[in-house]
Amino acid sequence: MRAIRFYDRHPAPASLRDEVFQGMARRPRAIPPKFFYDSRGSALFEAICRTPEYYPTRTEIALLRAHAGEIATLIGTDCLLVELGSGSSEKVRLLLEALRPGVYMPIDISKDHLLASAHGLAADYPWLDVHAACVDYSAAWRLPYCPQHLKKVAFFPGSSIGNFEPDEAVAFLRRLAAVVGREGGVLIGVDLKKDIAVLNAAYNDAQGVTAAFNLNLLARINRELGADFDLECFGHLAFYNETRGRIEMHLVSRCRQKVHIAGAQFAFGEGERLHTECSYKYRVEELHALAHRAGLSPVEVWIDPDGLFSLHYLATAR
Ligand SMILES: C[S@@+](CC[C@H](N)C(=O)[O-])C[C@H]1O[C@@H](n2cnc3c(N)ncnc32)[C@H](O)[C@@H]1O
Repeated sequence: MRAIRFYDRHPAPASLRDEVFQGMARRPRAIPPKFFYDSRGSALFEAICRTPEYYPTRTEIALLRAHAGEIATLIGTDCLLVELGSGSSEKVRLLLEALRPGVYMPIDISKDHLLASAHGLAADYPWLDVHAACVDYSAAWRLPYCPQHLKKVAFFPGSSIGNFEPDEAVAFLRRLAAVVGREGGVLIGVDLKKDIAVLNAAYNDAQGVTAAFNLNLLARINRELGADFDLECFGHLAFYNETRGRIEMHLVSRCRQKVHIAGAQFAFGEGERLHTECSYKYRVEELHALAHRAGLSPVEVWIDPDGLFSLHYLATAR
């Protein structure tokens, strides 16, 4: 087995404290979804993917499995394949044999999970050159390792593009276009608009895994910032906002209460919400409009027979 290379650009603990304080000062209160993902949050996200209601993962996997050959024809072999928010790196396994990338670079904010996944991949694909990077991709970032001679392709599955506001998504895609450079590509999985009941069920699974994932944000703040959130005093709320075309996830205070975080006190009213995630859903033409604004050209799109999920290949200029 080859050793992996690891680049640690993990945000300092002060970043969690500063962003939590900023989010608590906002009205309505909001904390960015990237903070869901400590080791426990990553494990809970994988459990969400196994719930019967959460169709995006199994649908995207079926698309990757069905179209790996066409994807490889478009991309070619021997590229630098950069995966954003790689998590368990399970989806990329469906592409590796067909693509035979020169370098695979998983990028994720959840450091221990990233390292475990990268080591697992290196063990299973001894020919693969793995360069893992713990990076926050929501801020400006650069490739920590960039062999000039390889074509660069970004893989961004899981519809994580939906976590950005649309203008932020354009800025993010523009950065991605700059990262992959001329003749580069972006393979991106995007959840489609659909029946509202299907969307609402996906974020309110019967086993309560999504609720536990949402509440883990407070547990993490307790663990890392010495806060005293009582998890029993907050409830999970997730619903599709049709006007905005997005799922919204919130934590709702069940009573009037005071919470202490890193020495500061915050009051919550009964019913007050803390906004934890947006997940925008895009029709194909809406995603194409974002791509064009970011300087990316749509090349191909694959959609499952039930019209649930889309997988796009976008290219930068030649
Ligand atoms: C919705 S999960 C998707 C995981 C996997 N790609 C999939 O499709 O199943 C989002 C992943 O992105 C990572 N992530 C979220 N925000 C991030 C950020 N700002 N920078 C880097 N990674 C981030 C999380 O740790 C998590 O692994």
